[in-house]
Amino acid sequence: MTKTIPVLPIENQEESLNGRVYLVTGATGGLGQAVSLQLAKLGATIILSGRNDDKLNQIYDRIEQSGHPTPAIISFDLEQTDEDIYKQFANSIYSEFNKLDGIVHCACQLGVIGPMDSQDGSLWLQTQQVNVNAAAILSKVCLPLLQQARDASITFVSDSSARQSKAYWGSYGVSKVAVESLSAILADELENTNTVSNVYIPGPCILPIRKKTHPGEKNSTLDTAHHIAKKLVNCIISEKSGSCFS
Ligand SMILES: NC(=O)c1ccc[n+]([C@@H]2O[C@H](COP(=O)([O-])OP(=O)(O)OC[C@H]3O[C@@H](n4cnc5c(N)ncnc54)[C@H](OP(=O)(O)O)[C@@H]3O)[C@@H](O)[C@H]2O)c1
Repeated sequence: MTKTIPVLPIENQEESLNGRVYLVTGATGGLGQAVSLQLAKLGATIILSGRNDDKLNQIYDRIEQSGHPTPAIISFDLEQTDEDIYKQFANSIYSEFNKLDGIVHCACQLGVIGPMDSQDGSLWLQTQQVNVNAAAILSKVCLPLLQQARDASITFVSDSSARQSKAYWGSYGVSKVAVESLSAILADELENTNTVSNVYIPGPCILPIRKKTHPGEKNSTLDTAHHIAKKLVNCIISEKSGSCFS
């Protein structure tokens, strides 16, 4: 069963990830970039996934120039809905690496923050597609590969504010509750296997989405992306399924 697990102090994060391969979606975003760099710094090879090739190349160069293991890029638009295309995604990981130790689902869309009558139907669907449906299908098609690893993880990202089902959080709020449910369902199904399913729930932090949902907030009161990424790594390498708050 899923349970809340404490985020370990970041000093405990000495474990080397040499030889490990992690897929990070939304690798061009604030959290995706920060966690890709942090995992690479610990020795992991990162498969950077996003939909913008220029931004993907920039983060690729940053990792390579820092002397970390050479990453890989999979350019992929998560608005696609055909499961066969997702299977091709997993096959390309298998062909290139023959292994996968974890998926970190950082890709996210905000949709419309506002009352129900301001919600745009197509943006609503797009937000559910990227935040929930694509994460579910990608996890499904990668599961056989993850289950060949010594130990593996699937990590989703929620939002400390949006998850509370309060007014105006719209499609984004619904997607965060859904992702937490998806993670718990997977965790239950994967109990006693090599794969854990976790959800990371950042608190107030300096990330692009937070700037949009809380435009007036002062940066001085917020956790940095770098610090948040270190806490997320502790969640990714956790041996037990559950929710990690920070
Ligand atoms: N307080 C909180 O709890 C809190 C605060 C902030 C964020 N968060 C969570 O942290 C996570 C990351 O937030 P962030 O601020 O880093 O987000 P962000 O900077 O907006 O990054 C989102 C990423 O998703 C990618 N993406 C969007 N649509 C896509 C699509 N159709 N196909 C492929 N990739 C797509 C974006 O690609 P492009 O670069 O091409 O747009 C970008 O890489 C989110 O899950 C968010 O909910 C939580």
